Amino acid sequence: MLLNAVKIGLLGLGTVGGGVANVLSGNRKEITRRAGREIVVTHAATREPPTADVDTDGMTVLKDAWAIVENPDIDVVVELIGGYEPARELTLKAIENGKHVVTANKALIALHGNEIFAAAQKKGVTVAFEAAVAGGIPIIKAIREGLAGNHIDWVAGIINGTGNFILTEMRDKGRDFADVLAEAQALGYAEADPTFDVEGIDAAHKLTILASIAFGIPLQFDKVYNEGIGRIESIDVRYAEDFGYRIKHLGLTKRTAAGIELRVHPTLIPNRRLIANVDGVMNAVLVHGDAVGPTLYYGAGAGRNPTASAVVADIIDVVRALTTDPGNRVPHLAFQADALADTPILPMAEVETAYYLRMQAEDRPGVLAGVTRILADQGISIEAMMQKPPMDDDEALPVVMLTHRVREAQMDEAIRRIEALESIRGHVTRIRIETLN
Ligand code: HSE
Repeated sequence: MLLNAVKIGLLGLGTVGGGVANVLSGNRKEITRRAGREIVVTHAATREPPTADVDTDGMTVLKDAWAIVENPDIDVVVELIGGYEPARELTLKAIENGKHVVTANKALIALHGNEIFAAAQKKGVTVAFEAAVAGGIPIIKAIREGLAGNHIDWVAGIINGTGNFILTEMRDKGRDFADVLAEAQALGYAEADPTFDVEGIDAAHKLTILASIAFGIPLQFDKVYNEGIGRIESIDVRYAEDFGYRIKHLGLTKRTAAGIELRVHPTLIPNRRLIANVDGVMNAVLVHGDAVGPTLYYGAGAGRNPTASAVVADIIDVVRALTTDPGNRVPHLAFQADALADTPILPMAEVETAYYLRMQAEDRPGVLAGVTRILADQGISIEAMMQKPPMDDDEALPVVMLTHRVREAQMDEAIRRIEALESIRGHVTRIRIETLN
């Protein structure tokens, strides 16, 4: 015999909210078989009327989201409006009113998750956030539960679908940046403010969450080092390919003896790695655990139905756990709240990695010797070097080199001194290299 239906209130009925409504109604029978009881969206709040392709059958559609978090009949609030406020206030009010919350809002969790989880724990409710990272890929569940036996060493991922879509279209079809971004917006991939995608902020939100559940540390968005995709030039994509690498926008968090690395930036990855071949809106996350070794998770990182898939899985999880003792549920950040560690986050200057460098050098004797002397002074060893034909009518020659691993502070100093050489024109382009092995 089935228990009473669980009543859901949706905050937002746009790209993701509409997808959640449709998946819940379209897969109703299958979902009921899994959850053990019916899950019904009784209310939804939206500022704009829902589009005709959203199944609102049986729902009361309101404009006022507060009416949902204050409604005593609603068991689970699903927050899909995005952004920091009023999402934070609505979430805290829903918790205060004893409701479980499912959210796809990575900005909210990355910045306010510590406060939200503390409030939820006090009240004995769950805040689930699978859809906040890597869209439809169940990466939160994989790390938090599937890999719970491991000491996680590092996590690296292509975790912004819009950015990966833009880079892929530019590389494969030579399309214009703005044109591809407009298409990503039309397809519902991009954030309300697309600079979050382009400047790496969205990826930094997601990496913050991944680091916390991998290492059991509080959420620390303000400590993420972040560079967006705006710095990637097509010439570097070509030269990287000559060396056997692809350039991807990568989020990387790694546990080292000195602290935790937390960084988002364009990265050269050997083209034989599976993750180097993840294109379009697809995301992929590599997780390395001491027992399991490397594991790779791949799927659509953005879009209506993939994101709805993750939200609905969370709703089912919450429904299954409704009658359990809150102390026995999976902890929000994978580790018990009183067991979080205060491991320091490494400043970028302390991070050690390898580099791709490109500079414009005058074509006369001794110029390269000057550059290699500076690198040697900083203890930087060159792994490979190529001199390219001049670009356009410029007499200076592009010189491209790959270095071995070195501390970022030493590379900063080397670049400062190379840029000061009279024989080097303009800036040195620096892109970090990760072999991910
Ligand atoms: N704007 C995000 C992306 C949506 O492109 O990945 C999914 O989080």
